[in-house]
Amino acid sequence: MTFTWKHQAQKESIVALAPMDGYTDSAYRQIVKIVEPRTIVFCEFVSADGLSRAPKKMERLVQFNPEIERPYIVQIFGKNPEAFAEAAKFLEDFGVDGIDINYGCPARKVVGSGHGSDLIRNPCLAAEIVAATKKSVSIPVSVKTRLGWHDESTLIPFVGDIISAGAEMITIHGRTVKQAYSGEANWNPMYELKKKYPDIPILGNGDIRSGADAKEKINILNGVMIGRGSFGNPWIFREVSCALNNKHYSPPTTEEKGEIIRKHAELLIQTKGQTRAMLEFRKHLLSFTKGFPGARELRGHMTSIEKIEDVEDVIQKIATAQEL
Ligand SMILES: Cc1cc2nc3c(=O)[nH]c(=O)nc-3n(C[C@H](O)[C@H](O)[C@H](O)COP(=O)(O)O)c2cc1C
Repeated sequence: MTFTWKHQAQKESIVALAPMDGYTDSAYRQIVKIVEPRTIVFCEFVSADGLSRAPKKMERLVQFNPEIERPYIVQIFGKNPEAFAEAAKFLEDFGVDGIDINYGCPARKVVGSGHGSDLIRNPCLAAEIVAATKKSVSIPVSVKTRLGWHDESTLIPFVGDIISAGAEMITIHGRTVKQAYSGEANWNPMYELKKKYPDIPILGNGDIRSGADAKEKINILNGVMIGRGSFGNPWIFREVSCALNNKHYSPPTTEEKGEIIRKHAELLIQTKGQTRAMLEFRKHLLSFTKGFPGARELRGHMTSIEKIEDVEDVIQKIATAQEL
């Protein structure tokens, strides 16, 4: 059945993996899906200009495993409506299930180019981009944004404009652009937004670290999106899914943890080649083993892994230290 956000939201509370540049590549997304198949996975953001100009060259950034990574949403950023339309069309033909538009990135370089969260200050162009994207594809178009630039006073009108332009789902990260990642995410404006637009699926995002957090924060929203809470902890998706659906959650055993760490490394090698994979896997390995007995002593080893045998060695040493 074709994916739609409305249908998904009617079925159950949605749990999504947040798009995260430098993290949510195909290997990461597959691991999340293996741990909790109900998760909706988002790709790291990709330039609409780049995709429209050189789709073949950019294709590797959006590669996915269609057997596992579904529904698969690709997030694009930029400021040129025609580029969005062309990029979205390419992605639809490539087989993705939905297009998400980035109106939330606060990075100086992104905002300085008039991309990402800068569009919050330009609601007409933001709506024009959504309309152009929507017109060029038949798959769903969604938007991820923040509470506002300085405060949340523009949230309801801004989202109203992009819904009128055709956005079918909205994710809100509960911080302003000015806050970047400081302070705590404020979820209250999201509930007001949901009351205003009850028919549009809305996902809440920001600071979910456990099933209990999700249960407390979801309130009247249609689901939650989790980013940093999944670093080294793909099981958070299972924990949150169980909490939202009132099911019992059993945390992973040391053995399951070892299997997932190994599988993540193998998938990275398959998708990016050994040298690049092992460089990138170092940060994941540090996250996976954070707080484990013996992890501190292995830090030097973990930041110099070069092959799958080195990963295996770390897994074995951690497992042994756990049993001591
Ligand atoms: C390393 C990193 C990269 C990110 N890249 C993106 C991105 O490509 N697109 C996007 O919309 N948000 C991006 N974000 C923001 C996250 O999607 C999310 O909104 C934010 O981290 C708050 O959620 P959390 O508290 O669950 O992490 C990124 C965040 C981090 C930490």
